[in-house]
Amino acid sequence: MGSARRVALAVWLAAAATAHAQPPAASATAAPPTAARLTSPRAQRVADSLLALMTLEEKLGQLTMFPGASGQTGPAVPPAADSAVRAGAIGSFLSIYSVRDTRRLQALALQSRLKIPLLFAFDVIHGWRTVFPVPLAMAATFDSAAAARAARVAAVEASAAGVHWTFAPMVDVARDPRWGRIVEGAGEDPFLGSVMAAAQVRGFQGESAQLAGAAPPRTDVMLATPKHFAGYGGAEGGRDYNTVELTERTLWDVYMPPFEAAIRAGAGTIMAAFNEIGGTPAHASRWLLHDVLRDRWRFGGVVVSDWTGVAELIPHGLGDSATVAARAIRAGVDVEMSSTLYRNTLAAEVRAGRVPQAAVDSAVARVLRAKHALGLFDDPYRYSDSAREQRVLLTPEHRRAARETARKAIVLLENRPSGDAPTLPLRKTLRTLAVIGPLADDPKSALGNWWGAGRAEDVVSPLAGLRRALPNARVTHARGVPADTVDTTGIAAARAAARDAEAVVLVLGERQDMSAEASSRASIELPGAQLQLARAVLAAARAADPRKPVVAVLLNGRPLATPWLSDSAPALVESWFLGVEHGNALADVLFGDADPGGRLPVTVPRATGQVPLYYNHKRTGRPADANNHYTSKYIDLPWTPLYPFGYGRSYTTFSYANLRAPAEGRVGDSLVVSVDVANTGPRAGDDVVQLYVRDDAGSVTRPVRELKGFQRVTLGPGERRTVSFTLRPEHLAFHALDMRKVVEPGTFTLWAGGSSAATLEARVRLAGDTLVVAPAPPPYR
Ligand code: NOJ
Repeated sequence: MGSARRVALAVWLAAAATAHAQPPAASATAAPPTAARLTSPRAQRVADSLLALMTLEEKLGQLTMFPGASGQTGPAVPPAADSAVRAGAIGSFLSIYSVRDTRRLQALALQSRLKIPLLFAFDVIHGWRTVFPVPLAMAATFDSAAAARAARVAAVEASAAGVHWTFAPMVDVARDPRWGRIVEGAGEDPFLGSVMAAAQVRGFQGESAQLAGAAPPRTDVMLATPKHFAGYGGAEGGRDYNTVELTERTLWDVYMPPFEAAIRAGAGTIMAAFNEIGGTPAHASRWLLHDVLRDRWRFGGVVVSDWTGVAELIPHGLGDSATVAARAIRAGVDVEMSSTLYRNTLAAEVRAGRVPQAAVDSAVARVLRAKHALGLFDDPYRYSDSAREQRVLLTPEHRRAARETARKAIVLLENRPSGDAPTLPLRKTLRTLAVIGPLADDPKSALGNWWGAGRAEDVVSPLAGLRRALPNARVTHARGVPADTVDTTGIAAARAAARDAEAVVLVLGERQDMSAEASSRASIELPGAQLQLARAVLAAARAADPRKPVVAVLLNGRPLATPWLSDSAPALVESWFLGVEHGNALADVLFGDADPGGRLPVTVPRATGQVPLYYNHKRTGRPADANNHYTSKYIDLPWTPLYPFGYGRSYTTFSYANLRAPAEGRVGDSLVVSVDVANTGPRAGDDVVQLYVRDDAGSVTRPVRELKGFQRVTLGPGERRTVSFTLRPEHLAFHALDMRKVVEPGTFTLWAGGSSAATLEARVRLAGDTLVVAPAPPPYR
């Protein structure tokens, strides 16, 4: 080893040894908006000292993330991966967890020449062993504290299994429910999506203090990864992995805000998207990964590819292996997940001068800084602690949190009278209940996709939850039909069950594998013969007793177009996929122990043909008008949705009054807006107070209305509360003709209420000059 290298090694070892003793670097507080430990001068010193020791091959190893498979039968990685780890040719793994597997591989890494520890990543999306509601359901809570808590619980549990890094939150805005991955995000709205994104980052990484100080953070935090950067939710036709065509303005006004919010919350890493935008796949877009991410947002963390995203640049049509690997590293993809083009081609590219050494070095430095930030140079095994792994999984406290969150996510869509009283809540004095439908007893579906270390045997299914809630009743079950085929042989038994019971709960929708990645549907209607089942069950129940309560409950990962159920079911409940506590939470709501305060984070269309349908659309020159044929609508369906964004009923009723906002102001003012909400019904309940804004006239067209504030409230019967929001200039800003982000003078209409159809209105006039909130983003190229 040369003397320069010896000095560098000494610096690295000394830095690692004194990591606990160092005061926070002065500049850490002024660091870019990435978890400060990732960008501190001290982290850079550690990285530099190691870089000086590394061969080019070892550097490319740090940029290689290899897939494993803990928890499956057979070894977690193939034997070849063991030797690659010993050779320093792998820097991180995905889908490896458990103290056993992470310790074993980490020990191999410590046999490599430079003993650089591994990072272990996993898709910890909505829980680990304690599985919480899927992200779309989480968004339906309109409760950012609940989202942060769920992410915190997930981090506490997964980190105990040795996981350092989660590929979450998914923050893609999704306006097309055919796209299966709509279930993984917060739905269609950039504002709600931004709030949820930031909350989850804080939950996974711990409040910024966890990754901000000089000392290694606690071992119960994980690096968060907002994904998929960017525009992935705009897949044409809702078909996963498809091309995205977005105008630059829509990209910035609609798709970018949740990413920016996640970065501002300190996300340590970000994942590139599979799609192209405007001819450049994200994995090859230096504009996206460098000009926007690093220059504009000052992101100092790690950019990871999506699974084989670098190699997929070949079928995208950008060239051969060496060409695309060079494009990706130059663009700013630091870590290559699953494919190995970096490892196989970049050494030659660097040596031939086609890829600058500096591009490799800065990517490696970011990976090393992340390892430093997590304290792995101090103790590579610090996350892998079997006592902790045993202790923290699925604790009663975590289950309680999951149940509470799951209740909050349930949306009541319809509640008509059955006899003299509303169908819901159901009486706890029922002596018989028929639980019917293909998803009633399907614990796997209740877990939703990306179930982490969740297990079907931990799940309280809808049937199990209803049985627990009625310990003395006879609760019968009939599957009726499968979720997705036209086998109707079980309908006769379902009819009999409906006839014989005092009340019926019909559990319909999509199985867990009918949404999420690679699970787009061309139709968002109820699959299989479920509609036939629903008609038969309702008819049988009515024939036996017209007052019999029949409740239809939906499980699904996307909004489903259910016009018949909406018109005919006495009660209709959206329960998404709620995780391990699905059945308990559902029973809490159906029997009235909890009020259904969830609200729709997506517009629900009447039929697939209306898609894309979202509330914050543009006005057009011919807004839909029932009295004018030549306006924007259909001749065979209303233009309106089945249920609007933000909608949901309660067991009580709410009224809104006194929307107060300053009538006049100056551009740049922060406006305090308040509204009175009152519970006008007979029982306590939850509503989500929502504030919408429209810029009445602009230099470019503006949406009909946009959510700019929300607050979930619980009010007792007769209780009234004033809810206030502060509208800051950035809430009124948009990307103008020259792409600067501006607030323009003029009038703004505000609405407050319990959904995006709120009618209580006020108007504000802002005078003055146009205010530039942010300069134009780097020009798209
Ligand atoms: C592909 C998915 O697009 C991404 O969201 C996920 O994190 C990776 N696979 C790793 O599982």
